[in-house]
Amino acid sequence: MRHLPTRTTRRRVVGALATALLCTTGLTAPEALAAPAPTEAPASPALAYGLALTPPMGFNNWNSTHCRAEFNETMVKGIADLFVQKGLKDAGYQYVNLDDCWALPSRNGDGKLVPDPVRFPNGIKAVADYVHAKGLKLGIYTSAGTKTCDSVGFPGALGHEYSDAQQFADWGVDYLKYDNCNNQGVDAKLRYTTMRDALKATGRPIVYSLCEWGQNKPWEWASDVGHLWRTTGDISDNWGSMLSILKQNLPLAPHAGPGHWNDPDMLEVGNGGMTDTEYRSHFSMWSVMAAPLLIGSDLRKASPATFDILDNKEVIAVDQDPLGKQGTVLSSEGGRWVVAKEMKDGSRTVALFNETGSAQHIATTTAAVGLPAAHGYTLRDLWQHRSYNTAGAVSATVPAHGTVLLRVSADRHWAKNPPAVEVGLDGSLLMEAGKPVSLTSAVTDLGRTPARRVSVALSGPTGWKVAAASPTTAGTVRTGHSLRTKWRVTPPEGTAAGSYDLTLRAAYRSPSGIRADSVLPLTVSVVVAPPSGVSYLGDLPWLSTTNGFGPVERNTSNGESAAGDGHPITLGGVVYAKGLGAHAPSAIEYYTGKRCRTVTADVGVDDEKGAKGTVAFEIWADGTKVASTGVLTNAMPAQPVSADVTGAQVVRLVVTDGGDGVDSDHADWADARLTC
Ligand code: GLA
Repeated sequence: MRHLPTRTTRRRVVGALATALLCTTGLTAPEALAAPAPTEAPASPALAYGLALTPPMGFNNWNSTHCRAEFNETMVKGIADLFVQKGLKDAGYQYVNLDDCWALPSRNGDGKLVPDPVRFPNGIKAVADYVHAKGLKLGIYTSAGTKTCDSVGFPGALGHEYSDAQQFADWGVDYLKYDNCNNQGVDAKLRYTTMRDALKATGRPIVYSLCEWGQNKPWEWASDVGHLWRTTGDISDNWGSMLSILKQNLPLAPHAGPGHWNDPDMLEVGNGGMTDTEYRSHFSMWSVMAAPLLIGSDLRKASPATFDILDNKEVIAVDQDPLGKQGTVLSSEGGRWVVAKEMKDGSRTVALFNETGSAQHIATTTAAVGLPAAHGYTLRDLWQHRSYNTAGAVSATVPAHGTVLLRVSADRHWAKNPPAVEVGLDGSLLMEAGKPVSLTSAVTDLGRTPARRVSVALSGPTGWKVAAASPTTAGTVRTGHSLRTKWRVTPPEGTAAGSYDLTLRAAYRSPSGIRADSVLPLTVSVVVAPPSGVSYLGDLPWLSTTNGFGPVERNTSNGESAAGDGHPITLGGVVYAKGLGAHAPSAIEYYTGKRCRTVTADVGVDDEKGAKGTVAFEIWADGTKVASTGVLTNAMPAQPVSADVTGAQVVRLVVTDGGDGVDSDHADWADARLTC
């Protein structure tokens, strides 16, 4: 049951807010009590109703511009134009939202907000009119504090809720993002409820987005306060950030539903800090979580690949499904995730998400995702836009950082589609130049029907030797059976260390002759054997890194954005010339080729973050954790850590956030050394 505030509770709320403000901000009573006197008890629900029945879709400038000058009327109109021209409006994108920095730093003599005349020379109403004329809607931003989040300090709405809400409504605003900065310690529920009531008092339907970063667990109290609530801190345009936000938002599934959504922050798709595979994962997982889809890239500069991702109508339909369920985690082990979302038509959308840096077999079944027993099922691949049949297996070998997104249904027409086939590869994709490696491919029929005239091919870069050592074709492969093929792959002598593409491709036919294929892109790392003796890890090439902010730094701390922006590594006042500067969540992998014995380091949170930051360090030898520190704070001195890595092909240095989010988690692996 939604809570309907009565006249007395409403009065109490306003009175409490006034007291809180008088205590904390020194505002005068008439200003704090700017609310009109309550009249009749509202007969409607607390929150403007009938809005955001599916997760809001649109655009917000923040992730691409922050407060830079390019955020202005021209940009906003340009985005609205592109929504129409590029078909994004037809795909469901509707809200064009302004973030921080649209106003002047001071209110006018009447206490009103003033749009920045340089950015918005015609005011906000003119922008709203333009956007409305295109059949779109306009969103705006302010903070539930005395100032917004940007350091310039634009006016916030705390104590001005009714006046600011009325101004927004008068301009024709349809959506408010209400941030949390400079909140003066006033109770969050009170601050956000007051703005809800102020928006409602305008009589204009306005989608209300709470942006208090999940600090007060809004999913527990905000379903009749806002239409959506941020569940985490800010996203940034990198894999580690996206992943950490995803992991925080997934467990909150029970709290989402029509009119009240978990908001894991806006999309980074197209901003350049992730690969297209990673952006497809980002978009797939946001959709399976029924998250708001707010485009965060400047579409005027976006690539065709970016438009392809944002405009994938089959994936959007997952997000916008009217049943309004957020997908739940069915399994997660070793970075292999199965997330399933119940759909209104009885089908299930299944995300097979690979968090790891190498291809992974990820599997579930039609029964496990909740489908009724049937002889066969239709399995629709929402990125390939192709349908297959399955006997009940829902599985794929998913490329590194990729997501296979499938809509699975127990419909009666499964037999008209070719069988689903999984292509996989066993063996190490770490290769030294000139040395042959043995691999085995498997082409497995998942379908109810057999795969006929099956063939498999493995191809590598020019100059590489790729030879099959067993048959590459089969007349028929039946349900649950595989065509297995042995391969020998040799990178030529002198191949430089780095990543190289290998492609495994299977072609086959359905019993009625329909041609189908299945492709698995793979990445080989050509590696160099580690030197014998003792080496500083800051001086050795790594295999891969992921990092919460900016790149991992060699021999300096983490500076959060560009490469080389760190400072001397400093722990408890001691400065180290050598080491690795990371930011949680982070993982750094080294090829050790079974030739090394120990990893040692002095670890801790860098002094540059003062008293802030808590992290935990782990060292892994292949799949085994061989050392861990537990949670370390900035108050602690450097802690020595040492691990036996004998026999490991790969050593991984991991930093987690210590369980309290990633704020200030500058993690140093000071003096990190490898003995081989
Ligand atoms: C906070 C919010 C962001 C953005 C900025 C603007 O950090 O969480 O989404 O709105 O403020 O200053």
